Amino acid sequence: MPKRILVLLSSLLLAAQATAAELSIDVGQGARTWHTDELLKLPQVRTLRIRQDVSYKRDMTYRAVPFKVLLPGVSADDHLQAVALDGFAAELAAGPLLNTGKPQAWLAIEDPAHPWPPLAAGKPSAGPFYLVWTDPAAGPISPEQWPFQVRRIRKLSSVAERFPAMVPDPALKPDDPVNQGFALFQKNCLACHRLNGQGDAQFGPDLNIPFSPTEYFADGFLKRYIRDPQSLRQWPQAKMPGFSAQVLPDGDLDLLVGYLKHMAERRGH
Ligand code: HEC
Repeated sequence: MPKRILVLLSSLLLAAQATAAELSIDVGQGARTWHTDELLKLPQVRTLRIRQDVSYKRDMTYRAVPFKVLLPGVSADDHLQAVALDGFAAELAAGPLLNTGKPQAWLAIEDPAHPWPPLAAGKPSAGPFYLVWTDPAAGPISPEQWPFQVRRIRKLSSVAERFPAMVPDPALKPDDPVNQGFALFQKNCLACHRLNGQGDAQFGPDLNIPFSPTEYFADGFLKRYIRDPQSLRQWPQAKMPGFSAQVLPDGDLDLLVGYLKHMAERRGH
């Protein structure tokens, strides 16, 4: 059988394995478990066209419900976390999730009767639940704010309260560049990396222990790594995504590296 047909067949088989699933949501009013069927029956569900989907890298169509519908009692300054089947833990400020204009957050629901394609050959789909955005450029919403294979959403106290060891020097003003860098770190990096031994992610290395990459990457190479990791180091299993200037403008990249440098001096705190 030609290889292309084999690949097609195996991806069809994989896709056919999509089954109804459960999503647990705990946003402070007691945990609630939603089944795929219940979600698909919500009156707010509609068919959504997502242009240049972040995970599939092409236009996609989903059955989806405005995320806000699933977050009763959540306010804009709350902090949420979306945990995926593989341990990826996206930290999400509630504000953008509650937005009804542009950008708007949606929970895409994989209907077992119409399974989504695999994310790559031999891989599962983005289901059973996937956070997608319409008009993400209006945020901007970073790729780390599109968690897929989500199984749990919960309200937590802020990152600074949960992980004091990654907080910059408290003497700095809230709008100090280092604190701005800390906010960018939470939005873009914390889903995969720990820092000073703290964080929920299990995916990438700790970015300050035993050393900070600001200490062992020669000048310029750290920024280059963040922009395009595999332009610096290549191997087939490399998993870190690159951050383009569209997602992380040069000024933000400077702020982020400024935060990492600052934290290299706060390792003992
Ligand atoms: C989707 C997960 C993910 C995200 C998001 C992510 N990383 Fe990574 N990162 C990894 C993984 C996994 C590695 C290990 C190398 C690999 O597999 O690519 C890594 C490696 C690194 C390294 C190299 C460490 C070393 O000593 O080789 C640096 C530096 C780094 N990441 C910084 C960052 C920064 C800064 C951000 C945020 C802008 C970030 N990463 C976002 C997953 C991620």
